[in-house]
Amino acid sequence: MKLEYLTRSPFQTRKLGEALAKEVLKAGEGDKARVLGLIGDLGGGKTTFLQGFAKGLGIKERVLSPTFVILKKFRIKKKGPFDFFYHIDCYRIGGAKDLAELGFREIAADPANIVAAEWADKTKNLLPKGSIFLKFEFIDKDTRKIKVSAH
Ligand SMILES: Nc1ncnc2c1ncn2[C@@H]1O[C@H](COP(=O)(O)OP(=O)(O)OP(=O)(O)O)[C@@H](O)[C@H]1O
Ligand SMILES: [Mg+2]
Repeated sequence: MKLEYLTRSPFQTRKLGEALAKEVLKAGEGDKARVLGLIGDLGGGKTTFLQGFAKGLGIKERVLSPTFVILKKFRIKKKGPFDFFYHIDCYRIGGAKDLAELGFREIAADPANIVAAEWADKTKNLLPKGSIFLKFEFIDKDTRKIKVSAH
């Protein structure tokens, strides 16, 4: 699967995130957590996308750029198999060891979790098979290219 989108505003990027969240909810749980890896340009729209994604999951709290927070946990109150959404920023993560300390393995193993990791490519072999990859490209001030693929 490979899809490409051009968005021309932060609003459009949020809407795309919201739509993906609805798809993830519709697909339901698997045997492990549902994992999203967000990679690409600085200011490419990864956090903006996840704001819409969280909204689509029914999360009311604001999703912020977790520059100084490496991991933030949100409760999913919507009825269904998912209980928590984890927003992780790997930008400042040194390596797999740091992630292990955050309990990443346990988080990714639980089918009740949805996990989104920004800068997933900073840590080798972070994302399990079956993850959804989102690549963000800065085109110009208001335009971003977003590629979705499944691995
Ligand atoms: N089409 C667009 N989609 C998303 N963001 C856009 C778009 N056009 C302009 N922007 C602006 O670009 C910035 C995107 O920032 P955002 O924090 O979402 O990127 P990021 O990929 O998470 O960055 P970082 O690599 O620092 O984590 C915001 O200031 C947003 O308003
Ligand atoms: Mg970000």
